[in-house]
Amino acid sequence: MTDQQPRNISSVIGGKPADGAPGGRLRSVSPARQDDVVADVALGDAATLAAAARDARQAQRAWADVPAPVRGRAIAHIGRLVEDNKQALSRLVTREIGKPYAEALGEVQEIIDTCDFFLGEGRRLYGQTVPSEMPDKELFTFRNPVGVVTVITAGNFPVAVPSWYIVPALLCGNAVVWKPAEYSAAAAAAFHELFCRGGGLPPGVFDVVYADGPATFAGLEQALDQGLVDKVGFTGSTAAGARIGELAGRHLQSPCLELGGKNPMVITPSADLDLAVEGALFSGFGSAGQRCTSLGTVICHESVHEEFLRRFAQATAAASVGDPFADVLYGPMLDTRFADRFEQYLAWIGPRHVVHGSTAVGRITPASPRAGFVGDPEAGIYYHPVIVDGVAPGDKLFDNETFGPLVGVTTYRDLGQALDLANAPGYGLSSSVYTADAAEAFGFRRGISAGMVSVNNSTSGAEAHLPFGGNGRSGNGSRQSGIWVLDQFTRWQAMNWDYSGRLQKAQMDVAELVPDLGFRL
Ligand code: UN1
Repeated sequence: MTDQQPRNISSVIGGKPADGAPGGRLRSVSPARQDDVVADVALGDAATLAAAARDARQAQRAWADVPAPVRGRAIAHIGRLVEDNKQALSRLVTREIGKPYAEALGEVQEIIDTCDFFLGEGRRLYGQTVPSEMPDKELFTFRNPVGVVTVITAGNFPVAVPSWYIVPALLCGNAVVWKPAEYSAAAAAAFHELFCRGGGLPPGVFDVVYADGPATFAGLEQALDQGLVDKVGFTGSTAAGARIGELAGRHLQSPCLELGGKNPMVITPSADLDLAVEGALFSGFGSAGQRCTSLGTVICHESVHEEFLRRFAQATAAASVGDPFADVLYGPMLDTRFADRFEQYLAWIGPRHVVHGSTAVGRITPASPRAGFVGDPEAGIYYHPVIVDGVAPGDKLFDNETFGPLVGVTTYRDLGQALDLANAPGYGLSSSVYTADAAEAFGFRRGISAGMVSVNNSTSGAEAHLPFGGNGRSGNGSRQSGIWVLDQFTRWQAMNWDYSGRLQKAQMDVAELVPDLGFRL
């Protein structure tokens, strides 16, 4: 299945492939087997993105006129088509970014779940009827689409996270221009095709543009300057998100930002330690630690620190790493750029840290092998898992997201200190506490700055119909998924209709009942 020919991919604007490669060409290579070229990608430039937004602007009005229940049917068909192609799309995800196949199946399921949720929203998308303070007057609220939405996504969840934006945005009557990560272009092209074919979407309602970061930013700037984009959705690094937030803010827009995380896991004295180890292993090293929800730092009560660490190190050393089509905990890094950055994070390990969980630190090679490695480590970009004990505020490792298979460990004395440590890096995406004590669980919930809290569960594994999003360095408070994302892709419009035939002035021409407030029993 990895010996297929590379697929030729180019941007699609108004239903037609864009000409040429003004932004150059890029080969999307499997990180698990670097001799496997998955796609040959023609990149667009800033003008390509602006052209797509112009095209989307044309298409959006007619799409908004399609009744919402009919748009909901389109989402229903997309969901069924994705379901019928689940294995093929999952295989492509595994091949292109090296996500273990079982997790890729889960990722594709997340698209189906999202479609299942929003197909019914086409028949709801409720507004309200509201009583007026005057007679012969009615008040209403309506949800209007925002217009053209530009969605820029990362490649670690190359199809699930895009669906969190694209499904509700389309359902609400917006046109979408999507800029996926270049290194997951083949999965993006397959996703786009499934949506266009399954949804029967008119040309221009859903365009896709392949471009690198600088071209995307310049194109977005042009499109915003020309008034062609009404909403930006961005999933990616905190640094890039801050720039996009600044740009959108200059146009008085509030983007939907889903950024990095330094997700804490607090292990209290009453924790079930084996359960906590299982959660730490899955969220720390699953997907090679390359989820936004990956575990950053374990904050362990000092009374259980030694025992937790012993069991966690043992489980990590025993975990299977390697070929993502096999039954492994994790496979390769997503792409060489992530491997290069991970090397920099490894260089932050200092003399006061103690490393556990592995026989070596860095890339897995024949000279630096890992026991039980599945497959050929030299074929791809695989890294040893690292547990770094003794991290503390002020350490780069403690203060920053370290995208990759690295988990920090520190200790605490009381819950207040655990919360201070958990909140210290200033992110606020996901978090977890292991405890048998309800007061501790709810105390943690109240004190943690994260948008998502797990009790006796890992930091990963959010379900597709709860609000997903973060605060601080993890985002601007916007939320995706479920009913909450509707506020990203619609704007409330208030309408009043006075049929009294008179000008009735609000607050002034209002009948008053005379109460007897001096009355006592
Ligand atoms: C992400 O890392 O960007 O909760 C999304 C999870 C997944 C989604 C993660 N359902 O880990």
